Amino acid sequence: MSQSLQQRPLHNPRSSSNSHRHIPIFNRTGLLSLLSLLLILGVVFLWARTSFSRSSSSSSLSKWRHYTLSEAASFVAKDGTVIVCSVSHPWLPFLNNWLISVSRQRHQEKVLVIAEDYATLFEVNERWPGHAVLVPPAPDSQAAHDFGSQGFFNITSRRAWHLLQILELGYNVMLSDVDMVWLGDPFAYLEGSHDVYFMDDIPAIKPLNHSHDLPHPTRYMGGLTSKLVMKKWIEEIEAQPWFKTAQINDQTAFNWALMKTAGQVDVYLLPQAAFPTGGLYFENKTWVEETKGKHVIIHNNWIVGFERKIKRFRDYGLWLVDDHDNESPLGKL
Ligand SMILES: *[C@@H]1O[C@H](CO)[C@@H](O)[C@H](O)[C@H]1NC(C)=O
Ligand SMILES: *[C@@H]1O[C@H](CO)[C@@H](O)[C@H](O)[C@H]1NC(C)=O
Ligand SMILES: *[C@@H]1O[C@H](CO)[C@@H](O)[C@H](O)[C@H]1NC(C)=O
Repeated sequence: MSQSLQQRPLHNPRSSSNSHRHIPIFNRTGLLSLLSLLLILGVVFLWARTSFSRSSSSSSLSKWRHYTLSEAASFVAKDGTVIVCSVSHPWLPFLNNWLISVSRQRHQEKVLVIAEDYATLFEVNERWPGHAVLVPPAPDSQAAHDFGSQGFFNITSRRAWHLLQILELGYNVMLSDVDMVWLGDPFAYLEGSHDVYFMDDIPAIKPLNHSHDLPHPTRYMGGLTSKLVMKKWIEEIEAQPWFKTAQINDQTAFNWALMKTAGQVDVYLLPQAAFPTGGLYFENKTWVEETKGKHVIIHNNWIVGFERKIKRFRDYGLWLVDDHDNESPLGKL
């Protein structure tokens, strides 16, 4: 079966200088079972779409309260793959911006928005039925804004659970932040058949032919994909004491999981020229010029503040919502 997951770390307007990681997980074994799964899912999709498109007034809002992660994943998954992001209401403009770029690569139908509050759940589903889900209880969004607080940890650790749940349902998952813009199709870069593909967040310049092995095991973020070994990985993660206590955010959790399972899980570091951290892309024009044409995902990180992120995207022509919001499945917000 396949699973793909994409992680997008919590994005708080106030806390994002060094956040971000991406964790896609793919699974390429079991193609046969994947095929049979797709046959079954094809039917589910059809059924799900008809039932969703009928509704859309306020009376339908209560329906979204009961929409489950499992229903949502089966609704959006294509080829066994789901692209996941977590979004709280202040980040809707970034979600819209990112969705425009994802739509240009024709991957928007696989996007599942994990809403961190009911306003986000309702607004996204009103505009784009079935693409948002909220896994209760809704976290306290005020608490979530204090970086390092218990509320913040509660939210970030939730992401890890959601991710694992989707993997356990049998999907490949690509996790994505929404302060990103896709310039190309990242799926084309998932070479070979590794368990996990990820991008790191290290601004130091690597040679173009850098190794795809696990680098120094301290900081990453990344997208990943996985095989059935994922199951093992999940067990390993769940066995970690920090996973239960939720005292650590998901980035730390994934870094830990990658380290703990080094040797058991086949990981692949995506090429830096295609997946640069914002700490490199927005800071070194020489490098950007040298690697022109190779960039696939631009991450607006290594900067603090919602307005500053928007300004930086605008300065680089990446704030697409100004002129292209008609290309987003959400339309004009
Ligand atoms: C965080 O989660 C714990 C355990 O579920 C809960 O007791 C606590 O109230 C939560 N704190 C906040 C601020 O959300
Ligand atoms: C990258 O290229 C350089 C110069 O051609 C070579 O010396 C080095 O071994 C290569 N590194 C890898 C990881 O292939
Ligand atoms: C910027 O990129 C160029 C080209 O790759 C590199 O030679 C230079 O050292 C980089 N500058 C900094 C400050 O990292």
